[in-house]
Amino acid sequence: MDLFRRLRRRPTLELDDIQAVVLRARPEPYFGSHAILEIGDRAAGQEMLRRLAPRLTSAAGWDEPRPSWPAVAISYQGLVALGVPESSLASFPANFRAGMAARADRLRDTGVNAPKNWEFPFGTSRVHVAVSVYSDNEDDWRREVAEYRRQLHDLPGVNLLSHQDFGATGWNVFGYRDGFSQPLVEGSGAESLPGDGRAIKAGEFVLGYPSETGQPLGMPAPDVLGRNGSYVVFRKYHSHVAAFNKFLYDNGHTEQERELLAAKLVGRWRSGAPLALAPERDDPAIGEDPQRINNFGYADDPRGLRTPVGSHIRRMNPRDSKLEILSDVNIRRIIRRSTSYGDPLPSDRLRDDGASRGLDFIALGARAVDTVEFLQSEWVNSGSFAGLGKEKDPLISRQDKGAYFTVPGSPPRRVHNIQSFNTLLGGEYFFLPSLSAIRWLAG
Ligand code: HEM
Repeated sequence: MDLFRRLRRRPTLELDDIQAVVLRARPEPYFGSHAILEIGDRAAGQEMLRRLAPRLTSAAGWDEPRPSWPAVAISYQGLVALGVPESSLASFPANFRAGMAARADRLRDTGVNAPKNWEFPFGTSRVHVAVSVYSDNEDDWRREVAEYRRQLHDLPGVNLLSHQDFGATGWNVFGYRDGFSQPLVEGSGAESLPGDGRAIKAGEFVLGYPSETGQPLGMPAPDVLGRNGSYVVFRKYHSHVAAFNKFLYDNGHTEQERELLAAKLVGRWRSGAPLALAPERDDPAIGEDPQRINNFGYADDPRGLRTPVGSHIRRMNPRDSKLEILSDVNIRRIIRRSTSYGDPLPSDRLRDDGASRGLDFIALGARAVDTVEFLQSEWVNSGSFAGLGKEKDPLISRQDKGAYFTVPGSPPRRVHNIQSFNTLLGGEYFFLPSLSAIRWLAG
């Protein structure tokens, strides 16, 4: 289920039909590639799926070792290119059909993040299929990618539009441990860990099962296409690590002050230890301890004296915080499968070296498109839900001139000159079909 969980209970989901990536997290360290493909003609697209289908792995036995586990996701334009019948296309949600670029206003992707500034092929109607391969060692990854290339190279109607390698040790390019706070999915068989709260209904993540409302969410038709599928939101960010380092230097005189500010922005120390449990100084042992790393809430810290109300993780999952604008946090959860690319830049480097580095934010869920749109507009780019006015997420929002971040205290500290530390290079909404749906799509 995630980096720390083991399979403990008998699963009740149809795991052998669900793509592995839904329940299997990347390992630490991890290696992989994302490829974006265009389907030039329907027959070639179907042939591609026929060739990929036997290589895909299901979520059954997700805790067993494997050389790699691929994931295949298809955009709305990809479903069109595959010749999916009109009645079926019409059964997909409107925002998914519109695609990410068309939803820029709702996502608050403006200014430097606007689709006109995205890198090719994002924002065009040519992004049809995303194939991702994850491995836990470099040799397997290289071998597997070579095999995929071999499988697809003689398909003239399928074009490789972009290819991006990724990989890291588990720490992202800013030097934070990342990707370990994940919802517990009911029926997945995964063990519950301290801090999980109750398991979230499977229908929030996989189509065809009861959701938190008690009913399954609307599902694309026919059933064979929708059931056991999910949605993926992919957003490629360029990380301005030197600017981030400089911001810390400008606002912290000592290493300890800078690291405390770095922790206040995210809500966790770079080691992963949450401020809620380690408010004064880092305690890396907590970052290594599955029993403690997520075992906290915010109810006993309403003012954010330990974990600022505006910090990244408290915004993205307010847990038991009292919110000014009510929302059921259990329907706002996503499974994160983000991957880092490029080399990290050490924290003492204050000048940009021009290298390409960042994060491919990947969110999965039966309502991932709605959830990310909600998060982007209400919890990332606004502060109203938590009484923070115009203040935005300090890590991932587009900041205007004069933006600041508040570190609560007596008196509170306003840290000025916060910038857009991650800018968007593009993205797309994808459908993540079940294995039987991929066979159905392959004709
Ligand atoms: C370059 C972009 C980003 C960076 C560097 C980043 C970094 C981080 C880090 C360091 C954590 C803490 C580790 C963890 O809890 O697993 C985290 C957690 C999280 N982030 Fe991000 N993030 C980015 C983009 C996003 C975006 C775009 C969203 C959603 C719209 C998001 C949603 C979340 C969520 C839901 C959590 C888990 C919070 C929790 O359960 O406590 N992140 N992120």
